[in-house]
Amino acid sequence: MGSCRFSMFRFLCLIIILFVVSGEEVSPRIVKERISLLSFRSGVVLDPEGALESWNSSGVHVCNWTGVKCNNASDHVVQLDLSGLSLRGRISPALANLSSLLVLDLSRNFFEGHIPAELGDLLQLRQLSLSWNLLGGNIPEELGFLHHLVYLDLGSNRLAGDVPVPLFCNGSSSLEYMDLSNNSLTGEIPLKNECKLGALRFLLLWSNRLVGRVPRALANSTNLEWLDLESNMLSGELPSEIVRKMPKLQFLYLSYNDFVSHDGNTNLEPFFASLVNSSNLQELELAGNNLHGEIPPIIGDLSTNCVQIHLDENLLYGSIPSHISNLVNLTLLNLSSNLLNGTIPPELCRMGKLERVYLSNNSLSGEIPAALANISHLGLLDLSKNKLTGSIPDTFAHLSQLRRLFLYENQLSGTIPPSLGQCVNLEILDLSRNNISGTIPGEVAGLKSLKLYLNLSSNHLHGPLPLELSKMDMVLAIDLSSNNLSGTIPPQLGSCIALECLNLSGNVLEGPLPSTIGQLPYLKELDVSSNQLSGNIPQSMEASPTLKHLNFSFNRFSGNISSSGAFSSLTIDSFRGNDGLCGEIQGMPSCRRGHVIHISFILPVLLSLFATPLLCMFAYPLVLRSKFRSQTVIFNGGDLEDEDKETKDLKHPRISYRQLIEATGGFSASSLIGSGRFGRVYKGVLQDNTRIAVKMTQCPLAQLMDFCVDLSAILPLGSYSKICSDVILELIELGLVCTQNNPSTRPSMLDVASEIGSLKQYLSNPPSLVIEESYPKASAS
Ligand SMILES: *[C@@H]1O[C@H](CO)[C@@H](O)[C@H](O)[C@H]1NC(C)=O
Ligand SMILES: *[C@@H]1O[C@H](CO)[C@@H](O)[C@H](O)[C@H]1NC(C)=O
Ligand SMILES: *[C@@H]1O[C@H](CO)[C@@H](O)[C@H](O)[C@H]1NC(C)=O
Ligand SMILES: *[C@@H]1O[C@H](CO)[C@@H](O)[C@H](O)[C@H]1NC(C)=O
Ligand SMILES: *[C@@H]1O[C@H](CO)[C@@H](O)[C@H](O)[C@H]1NC(C)=O
Ligand SMILES: *[C@@H]1O[C@H](CO)[C@@H](O)[C@H](O)[C@H]1NC(C)=O
Ligand SMILES: *[C@@H]1O[C@H](CO)[C@@H](O)[C@H](O)[C@H]1NC(C)=O
Ligand SMILES: *[C@@H]1O[C@H](CO)[C@@H](O)[C@H](O)[C@H]1NC(C)=O
Ligand SMILES: *[C@@H]1O[C@H](CO)[C@@H](O)[C@H](O)[C@H]1NC(C)=O
Ligand SMILES: *[C@@H]1O[C@H](CO)[C@@H](O)[C@H](O)[C@H]1NC(C)=O
Ligand SMILES: *[C@@H]1O[C@H](CO)[C@@H](O)[C@H](O)[C@H]1NC(C)=O
Ligand SMILES: *[C@@H]1O[C@H](CO)[C@@H](O)[C@H](O)[C@H]1NC(C)=O
Repeated sequence: MGSCRFSMFRFLCLIIILFVVSGEEVSPRIVKERISLLSFRSGVVLDPEGALESWNSSGVHVCNWTGVKCNNASDHVVQLDLSGLSLRGRISPALANLSSLLVLDLSRNFFEGHIPAELGDLLQLRQLSLSWNLLGGNIPEELGFLHHLVYLDLGSNRLAGDVPVPLFCNGSSSLEYMDLSNNSLTGEIPLKNECKLGALRFLLLWSNRLVGRVPRALANSTNLEWLDLESNMLSGELPSEIVRKMPKLQFLYLSYNDFVSHDGNTNLEPFFASLVNSSNLQELELAGNNLHGEIPPIIGDLSTNCVQIHLDENLLYGSIPSHISNLVNLTLLNLSSNLLNGTIPPELCRMGKLERVYLSNNSLSGEIPAALANISHLGLLDLSKNKLTGSIPDTFAHLSQLRRLFLYENQLSGTIPPSLGQCVNLEILDLSRNNISGTIPGEVAGLKSLKLYLNLSSNHLHGPLPLELSKMDMVLAIDLSSNNLSGTIPPQLGSCIALECLNLSGNVLEGPLPSTIGQLPYLKELDVSSNQLSGNIPQSMEASPTLKHLNFSFNRFSGNISSSGAFSSLTIDSFRGNDGLCGEIQGMPSCRRGHVIHISFILPVLLSLFATPLLCMFAYPLVLRSKFRSQTVIFNGGDLEDEDKETKDLKHPRISYRQLIEATGGFSASSLIGSGRFGRVYKGVLQDNTRIAVKMTQCPLAQLMDFCVDLSAILPLGSYSKICSDVILELIELGLVCTQNNPSTRPSMLDVASEIGSLKQYLSNPPSLVIEESYPKASAS
């Protein structure tokens, strides 16, 4: 306290000395205001932008201080605007001495503590803005006596307690704007019958804990344009009699309260009727109340200026009146989560400006009207969770603006129209839980624009996974589970590089799980359970730094599972129902040790073959694209047990190391089709003319090879050696440049992406190749 007084004393001296020195002529009034401002400044503990630096006693005149404005003639401070300066501290009551103040704006800072009751002394005040701070406590009722106030904004603070009565009753008859929203205010809206806010145009009380009814006296605020009472606990019948008196109403938000409709919560007609004279009405929100009753046809007589209507989350029943289509300017209609039945009126298509239509979670039946496709601006259509039947209209192809289409949980049948592929702006397509059959059209799978998700799960889709899926390089999630999809999982899915979740469970997919999937850089969830996948679970899964949820259960996977990396948090549940798996996961049979000797026999042989130590060895499948025969061969250096099981599986015959040596001519130079720091790849032909590729690699660069070798599955065999070795070399070059020590010499990600893009282009459009003579053709047996 002592030091405080001392500094104030010194401060006063300083000012006096300054006046003497500068000889400046200053009215006592401005001295008082200067002191007042400086005590305000001393309440500010943090000023990160240095906004108050000019607020010092030397040099700059008070009227030139940041945020301060004076009346030109009388030199009084009339405005203090310090909004959005990230100031921290408390609001000093000394501001009350700025008795000529008209505007006080401290909004969008971090002021805490209480609102000083002394602000009620600022009797000239026209505008008081304290919104978006951390102010707590009650609203001082003194603010209710600011008779000239036009604009009062205390929104988005931590104010609590009841709203003081004077604020609504003794205040200014010229108050036009009152915003107390987003606080924790309690009690009723204290507008007594004898009170009047005749000039009020904006009343914003949303997100508080106000109870009771909308006060009748509000009916005298006939100038109201914006009434927002959303998210409180207000109750009673919808305030028809009040809004009837507000012909200027533009925005009426009553959502998330406990309002009911008229006549014992059965009749909505009186409320909508009371709004038909509000010819400026633009938005009407009644969501999340307790409204029973049918949507009255009179809804169509609301102003044609209406752009949004929210009636979702109520208990509305009956059908959607076709009369609603008179609202030709409507852009958003939300009728979700009601009890509506009947069909979707085709007349909706007359509302040509509709952008978002939510009809989900009702009991709508019948077919989806093809005419909806005439709503050319439609960007979001949510018809999910209804009882819609029939097929998806072919006409949806015309919806070129469509970005989100939700048709899940209906009873839709038929096939997916390939024309949906013309909706080139689609980001989400969710057709799950219907009775849709047929194959997945390549046109739809190739919707590159899908950047959020594709969900076709729980339908009756069959046929292969279309290769076009690999074009979805922005999609975050793909769910094709619980269908009858067959064939193999294309390694090209590795091109969906943004993918975070992939669910292919509950289909009849077969063949190996491509290692490219484990290399997807953002993949978090992978579920391939309940298919007929076989072979080893690729090393890339375990090595993935992102994978968290994995499910391989109920397939035909085999091999050794370690409990490291991404697998370390998995339990046996992720692997159940694969008789060929063994390893360290608790509950899983441990792998027999005997064959390890065999491996350690192989390794020295390899070591003697190459100067650099090779740590891993894989032979990769080459699918033979012969007309009569398709065969996959897998050899894995780390998986030599369970020989019996594997030889029984004709798709994956085992190859001995001796056979490998014979097939590759003892890994002869002429069999070498690619080499580099990553290791080497050999081609070879087994005695039965099965062509194989053998990869010998050091683990860290195995991924590079996996990428290329997996490509081999789609390329004609002859082209493999040429194209792939070219590509491998390119990739290695790229890898070397990318891993240079000096970051400044590394290429930009953009360059890398473009390089990889052109390689991809090259691979998807290979030059015609002559099959090499030295490479015997497979006998078509
Ligand atoms: C007062 O403010 C002026 C202008 O920002 C500045 O140049 C000066 O250094 C300040 N003086 C003190 C003592 O802070
Ligand atoms: C405010 O500053 C301007 C120049 O920046 C000057 O012309 C004016 O006289 C100052 N006003 C007062 C009241 O000092
Ligand atoms: C005060 O002066 C400034 C510039 O000197 C001028 O822009 C402003 O309009 C004046 N205000 C009043 C109320 O006269
Ligand atoms: C206003 O100034 C007077 C002295 O001029 C002082 O006594 C009083 O405490 C000040 N009011 C506030 C609220 O700081
Ligand atoms: C409500 O206020 C809090 C701060 O008190 C803010 O974080 C939040 O964004 C506000 N809510 C809205 C919808 O503006
Ligand atoms: C506040 O307004 C009410 C109703 O108009 C009135 O009865 C009361 O006397 C007023 N109080 C003050 C302090 O002006
Ligand atoms: C509204 O104004 C009318 C006169 O226009 C008056 O008779 C009535 O009492 C007022 N109602 C309220 C609640 O103030
Ligand atoms: C709407 O205005 C017309 C003519 O001004 C009037 O006859 C009618 O009663 C009004 N309707 C309502 C609900 O106030
Ligand atoms: C639709 O809205 C536009 C602008 O908001 C307005 O000019 C037009 O008159 C409205 N149409 C109708 C039929 O009210
Ligand atoms: C529409 O209603 C649903 C259900 O209440 C809600 O989840 C959704 O956010 C609403 N959409 C809009 C834009 O209001
Ligand atoms: C569907 O609507 C019912 C009320 O009709 C509601 O209880 C339920 O939460 C809604 N479901 C969803 C997913 O919105
Ligand atoms: C809609 O539900 C009501 C009962 O709420 C029933 O009387 C009516 O027949 C139903 N309409 C249709 C088309 O299912």
